[in-house]
This record gives sequence, structure tokens and C-alpha cells, in this order.
Amino acid sequence: MANIIVLFSSSRPNGNTRNFINQIAVQLKTIDVSLDIIDLEQYHFSDFDYEHKNKNDDFSPLFEKILAYPIIIFATPVYWYAVPPQMKRFLDRISDYLSFPQLLDKGRQLKGKTAYIACTSIQKQASETYLNAFKETFAYLGMQYGGYIHADCSEGYQAEPQENAIIMFSHLFKTHKA
Ligand SMILES: Cc1cc2nc3c(=O)[nH]c(=O)nc-3n(C[C@H](O)[C@H](O)[C@H](O)COP(=O)(O)O)c2cc1C
Repeated sequence: MANIIVLFSSSRPNGNTRNFINQIAVQLKTIDVSLDIIDLEQYHFSDFDYEHKNKNDDFSPLFEKILAYPIIIFATPVYWYAVPPQMKRFLDRISDYLSFPQLLDKGRQLKGKTAYIACTSIQKQASETYLNAFKETFAYLGMQYGGYIHADCSEGYQAEPQENAIIMFSHLFKTHKA
């Protein structure tokens, strides 16, 4: 098992964001750092339910698997200055672990983990609105924010322009060989 998990969500399983993550994974491999990648679209879980009638869907096993990792990279495209629906649903469902007494102990285990963002869009810079929603969520959950990487895909996905940024981003993980 790697130390780093990527939570990937996009309406395209093999689109720009997945290409970006794959390129990051290849670069990290050169410094002996590996990533476990989870495609959230492969999991079936519903919106947050105040009555927790959805407690037997895929969310709990997924969330508890993620708790084993000290580092989480949230990887999505920017869709309307925000995350895609499945990532939003995932973030909403973290509220299960803050709301229901039997889950609180596990919810607290997010505290101290380090979170990064990897995103793609068609702008030169990542949307601050998008980034801030993540950063405020991490702060609320007691997670450390490690930084972000963004790819401008206005010309589609092109690997070469991302190379330098990916090398710099990879340096952040040097101490997490696994
Ligand atoms: C529904 C939708 C909304 C989008 N909203 C934005 C946006 O707000 N800002 C932006 O720069 N790009 C936006 N884009 C462009 C995508 O972020 C960009 O093409 C991204 O690289 C797509 O990644 P994917 O192939 O993983 O879906 C949007 C694309 C879609 C399909």
C-alpha cells in the first residue's frame, strides 16, 4: 500500500484530469513514490441523508479505506468554479462522520492528514473559488493543506507544458517513499 491516495472524480474516466494524474504518478515513480488511485465514479453512494438511511451504500467502506492513508490528493476538473458532483457528494458524506455519534471517532481520524489538490481547467490559473472551497473544508476538518497543482487544458491535455510543475510538485512527496 502506498502512503498517498488520490481521490479522483471527473465526468470522463480518461479525460484531462486522469491524464494529469497519470503523468504525476509516472513522475513520482522516478523518485520511488507510489500512488493509489481511486476513481470515485466507480463507487455508488447517495447524497447526505440526515436520517442516515443510506448507511449501507459504498461510502463507509470507501471512507474507512481512505483513513489508512496519511496523504490525500483530491483530483478533479474545475466544473463551474467547483468540483464535479461525485466529489461534492463525497465531501458531503464526510458529514456522516461528523454527525452520527457512532462514527465520530473515525471522523476525527482525518485530523492531521495532509491534503493536496490536483486540478485541470481551461484557464491559465486554477479558480480561487474552487481552491478555497477545498482549503476551507480541509481547515474545518483539521487537515493540513499541502498545496495544489493545476493544468491549463484549454488546448486539450498536453503533457509537455506540465512537466516542470509536476517535477516541483513531486518534490513535496520526496519523504513519502512507498
Ligand atoms: C460542466 C463543465 C464545466 C466547466 N467549468 C469550467 C470552469 O468553471 N472553469 C474552467 O476553467 N473550465 C471549466 N470547464 C473545463 C474543464 O475544467 C476542463 O476541460 C477540464 O480539463 C476537463 O477535465 P476532464 O477531462 O477530466 O473532465 C468545464 C467543463 C465542463 C464539462
